[in-house]
Amino acid sequence: MSASASTSNIDIKVDSLLGKMTLKEKLGQLNQLSPWNHDEIAKRVEAGEVGSLLNISDPAQIIAMQHIAVEKSRLGIPLLIGRDVIHGYKTIFPIPLGQAASFNSLMVERGARIAATEASADGIKWTFAPMIDIARDCRWGRIAESFGEEPHLTSVMGAAMVRGFQDTDMTRPSSLAACAKHFVGYGAAEGGRDYNSTYIPERRMRNVYLPPFQSAADAGCATFMTSFNDNDGIPSTGNRHLLTDILRNEWGFKGMVVTDWCSATEMIAHGFAKNRKDAAEKAINAGVDMDMVSECFINNLEKSVADGSVDMATIDNAVRNVLRLKYQLGLFDNPYATTPRSLHYDPVHLATARQAAEESIILLENRNNTLPLSSDVRKILVVGPMANAPHDQLGTWVFDGEKEHTVTPLQALRDLYGDKVQIIFEPALPYTRSTDASAFARAVKAAKRVDAIIAFVGEESILTGEAHSLADCKLQGAQTELITALAATGKPLVTIVMAGRPLVLTQEALTSDALLFSFHPGTMGGPAIADILFGKVNPSAKTPATFPRMVGQVPIYCAQNNTGRPANANEILLKDIPLEVGQTSTGCRSFYLDAGTGPLYPFGYGLSYTNFRYDNLRLASDTIASDGNILASVNITNTGTCPGTEIAQLYVRDKVGSTARPVKELKGFDRITLQPGQTQTVTFSLPVSALAFYGLNNTYAVEPGDFRLWIAPNSASGPFIDFTVVE
Ligand code: GLC
Repeated sequence: MSASASTSNIDIKVDSLLGKMTLKEKLGQLNQLSPWNHDEIAKRVEAGEVGSLLNISDPAQIIAMQHIAVEKSRLGIPLLIGRDVIHGYKTIFPIPLGQAASFNSLMVERGARIAATEASADGIKWTFAPMIDIARDCRWGRIAESFGEEPHLTSVMGAAMVRGFQDTDMTRPSSLAACAKHFVGYGAAEGGRDYNSTYIPERRMRNVYLPPFQSAADAGCATFMTSFNDNDGIPSTGNRHLLTDILRNEWGFKGMVVTDWCSATEMIAHGFAKNRKDAAEKAINAGVDMDMVSECFINNLEKSVADGSVDMATIDNAVRNVLRLKYQLGLFDNPYATTPRSLHYDPVHLATARQAAEESIILLENRNNTLPLSSDVRKILVVGPMANAPHDQLGTWVFDGEKEHTVTPLQALRDLYGDKVQIIFEPALPYTRSTDASAFARAVKAAKRVDAIIAFVGEESILTGEAHSLADCKLQGAQTELITALAATGKPLVTIVMAGRPLVLTQEALTSDALLFSFHPGTMGGPAIADILFGKVNPSAKTPATFPRMVGQVPIYCAQNNTGRPANANEILLKDIPLEVGQTSTGCRSFYLDAGTGPLYPFGYGLSYTNFRYDNLRLASDTIASDGNILASVNITNTGTCPGTEIAQLYVRDKVGSTARPVKELKGFDRITLQPGQTQTVTFSLPVSALAFYGLNNTYAVEPGDFRLWIAPNSASGPFIDFTVVE
């Protein structure tokens, strides 16, 4: 049956069922609950007052609730069981920010497919992922769940995750409905403080924050979730321009929209709704379909229909969106279908998670080729609070992965390399926030007896994720002091940072001989790190978000505008300003006296154990019609001594626009693996339409004119070439 035929067939079923429903039963379908009291919820389900449950993962409980809904409620409408399956279910993958660092969308898709397969085994049919908020502020704890700062990277990864979760047929037992969240602009919270207001003008909203969501909708994402933030005073959950004008009318989205947790009634706290009834009316009239947990829909909308505040047609449309999704998931035909629970932690899943971790670990520093550890290294000290932290290694938003399955770096080093090197282990700190340096002396003493020090620092997972923003993004506790003390021994020091955000690592970058950033790498992070340390794996990941020198530089990201006074590389910094000079004598440009002009590590940055040379960047033509194609090629050569994977990045700058344009925007990327001495031509074919943007008057168009293009190893270097777009 063709998609359109099956869709119209589903709509016929939906309308037939809708015609049988009472208003209370309709409102029941719009009501999502978290089963804090099983018996109480069971009664509500039987009464037809619940359309969906979340925060339930006990398969027996899920099946029991589903039987009640299907066999005891008057109309037998199955429940939709939702869960936060964000970066794995049982087998935990790197946090999404780490997955973004791989620039490998196929791996992201595979990871989501595996997560869907494992979650389906417990009866879950809907995940609240991908999270595709653009995040340009490392103070914001939820940057961990994002794919970082660049709209193109986030768009590609978000669509990959949708495909992975939903597969090609959502009726399959192993498919989950995906949920694009948080719609929209949540990552622009003022000050990086979670839930804070945002101020994103329409043009920036359309050029930066909306594109990943449009990509998710284009990828067929079944649901969207509204975000907690108000944007310029309008909470997303009550924003009709967003939820109806753009999502429904402009993009043609036919899926289902759910609020975030109580975000409907939180509009009262926002000062945008008078009371729960007003909140319910504002949400459903804006375009929300389902109310997550607040119960303001089911408890107030009967009155709202009666007094004319909400049309029955509005209610019916919301119910249609919920019922349609349930049909699309095959829930009416197979409400109890699951995959085998034996798939949890399947060896193939673990191996894939290990590869995902390998590809997400960034080599940031490697002085004197400290890494990979040479065969002369016979004795190592493994030290630090994240060396053997099975819970925290999994990262934020892990409800179902069990720490007992985590393989930590300490375990992996002992298992995989314990026969090659002697391993001494000293935690030195009991956890990342600890300021108890009493064990430092013992660690330093051990350090003096080894050939290399491997220090594991970073963030406990609870320091990242929702509601966990930091005003100062440094290593907490006495970790920096520990690194300094270890460096003072003069032994080769490899520092590995397991964290959920770009941290300020300026000090650690100076005192460590090598610096790896592993994010929270998930269940199999240990073997991935061990194999990188000993060179079995050559790191290839690149930064998915900019790493600041100081937190005061934030927000800092590659696609910034140039300003009228761009800084240059040789600005006079604080320490070099002569005494009593004239106010303007040291230049008047846009930079920080104390932090300089740029980040510690730019977007797209990462080293390898080998080196790559980019040359002979060329265009098929340097004058291109506005409906044409940009064909750009570069030769990349592995000039080192070991195979390596390079992530070549395509950036474009529109030199002059009807509004000022960013100095660099990512428009493509390609992963290539080269043997030593091998040269490969990398070619990007980019339709000129990809240069379109919302300019003056918010018109979306390609504006003819002069452009600059890079194919580069990161956003701060690499060859460029100019071209012109003509009408
Ligand atoms: C949370 C989060 C959202 C999550 C939802 C359900 O508050 O904001 O991302 O999916 O509630 O747990």
